[in-house]
Amino acid sequence: MTTVLSVASECVPLVKTGGLADVVGALPRAMADLGSDMRTLLPGYPAVLAAVDRDTVVRDLGTRFGGPARLVQGKLGDQVLYVLDAPHLFDRPGSIYLGPDGKDWPDNPERFAALSQVAAEIGDAGVDGWMPQVLHLHDWQAGLTPVYLRERGAAERVATLLTIHNIAFQGLAPATRLGKLGLPEHGFTPDGFEYYGQISALKAGLIYADAISTVSRTYASELMTPEFGMGLDGVLRDRQSVLTGILNGIDLDVWTPPYDSPDGKAAVTRDLREVMGLPEADGPLFVVISRLTEQKGLDLLIDALPDLIEAGGQLALLGSGDPGMESAFRTAAARFDAVSVRIGYDEALAQQLIAGGDVILVPSRFEPCGLTQLYGLRYGTLPLVSMTGGLADTVIHASPAGLAADVATGFQFYPTTAQALRGALMQACTLWPDRKKWEGMMRNAMAHPVGWDQSARDYAALYESLKKNA
Ligand code: ADP
Ligand code: GLC
Repeated sequence: MTTVLSVASECVPLVKTGGLADVVGALPRAMADLGSDMRTLLPGYPAVLAAVDRDTVVRDLGTRFGGPARLVQGKLGDQVLYVLDAPHLFDRPGSIYLGPDGKDWPDNPERFAALSQVAAEIGDAGVDGWMPQVLHLHDWQAGLTPVYLRERGAAERVATLLTIHNIAFQGLAPATRLGKLGLPEHGFTPDGFEYYGQISALKAGLIYADAISTVSRTYASELMTPEFGMGLDGVLRDRQSVLTGILNGIDLDVWTPPYDSPDGKAAVTRDLREVMGLPEADGPLFVVISRLTEQKGLDLLIDALPDLIEAGGQLALLGSGDPGMESAFRTAAARFDAVSVRIGYDEALAQQLIAGGDVILVPSRFEPCGLTQLYGLRYGTLPLVSMTGGLADTVIHASPAGLAADVATGFQFYPTTAQALRGALMQACTLWPDRKKWEGMMRNAMAHPVGWDQSARDYAALYESLKKNA
């Protein structure tokens, strides 16, 4: 049995801005099924503290970055949580990353340095007699942990795995904070955590962790190219021998279709059209559930929308993010009867859209894994995706060969341009009337494994291989 501390800034059902939270919330349960003891360390945001009993203080951490801090132990279902209770760092209203001005909280470097320091302390000394053998660090927010671990002289005892969920966020801080963050001068070099004159928490993790993973195999190779590496491709090429890709799974208990064959979908689609205020129609209903950011490529959909509607398709979108994109979709909804848009974040509506949609659109410019196309597979809501990252690895394109062999589960397009997207949308609309082929694809999609089984086994094997005190 391996003991693992998972260290992250988000976790469902407590706090979520994206798929990272789903993965962090689901992993411990998936690992428990394989006999691993995984516990999770989270920042003490109000929603996290509300879920644990604050009196269960397992360690007084003294003063951290200008205020008192304590480590609290709690439970989330069967999972053990450790929570860094430091109100001056985490007890804030609104977004966990952004201040009211929409910009990063100015003390983000300190907030997540505090989290990483505590992770290193638990790695070094354990907590209440529990010793992790592996620290599983997620994204830049946990990236400094291996540096602190080294400074404590504990890197020889406890192993570190850094998982990249999104390389677009790197946790940069000005060099002047080196001392304040408790980082060693000798690490501030191009082959350490210095990044063009700044401190990079993500680069620290990439350089000093024992192993690196990301959330699909294709994204693991893409990350080593200048197009996708966002300035860190060289570092990743240097560390290629310890870089792997392990796909995310989804929680099959949460994401369960209210039908078990393609026949059951039509009634759900009818309800969804009503909820979204869309007219009855014979054509396919395309759905989107997404952050509206550059990454997700939904500006391309705006361009392709008139053709989609012309071909008989409808669009129902749920999302929020970039104000320009929000207003472009609002405008489209006002212009076309066949388009319905909800700006906001709504878990229940997300499930309804997945269940009732015929096609889920994910035209991302890059996508480390992506979860919504996996929901789509499970619900027979055929994914129409760009051929990148986890989207490339999880969808089988309706090519002539794919259709002939009856293995296709969705539609892929390449390159990520409005023109190629338009082509795939037209392909879906053209195939739609062929009910035999379409329902065959739905059946293939619904049979595609999207749970955690294989990936949990892959993580278990990776943890096992990294253990230093076996
Ligand atoms: P990313 O983490 O890059 O945003 P993923 O596909 O991995 O992309 O995960 C996104 C998660 O957030 C999914 O669980 C998706 O259902 C959810 N989600 C995104 N936008 C919304 C929204 N507006 N309302 C409800 N859920 C959303
Ligand atoms: C990131 C990625 C997404 C991935 C998620 C969970 O937010 O953008 O592709 O599914 O992390 O790993």
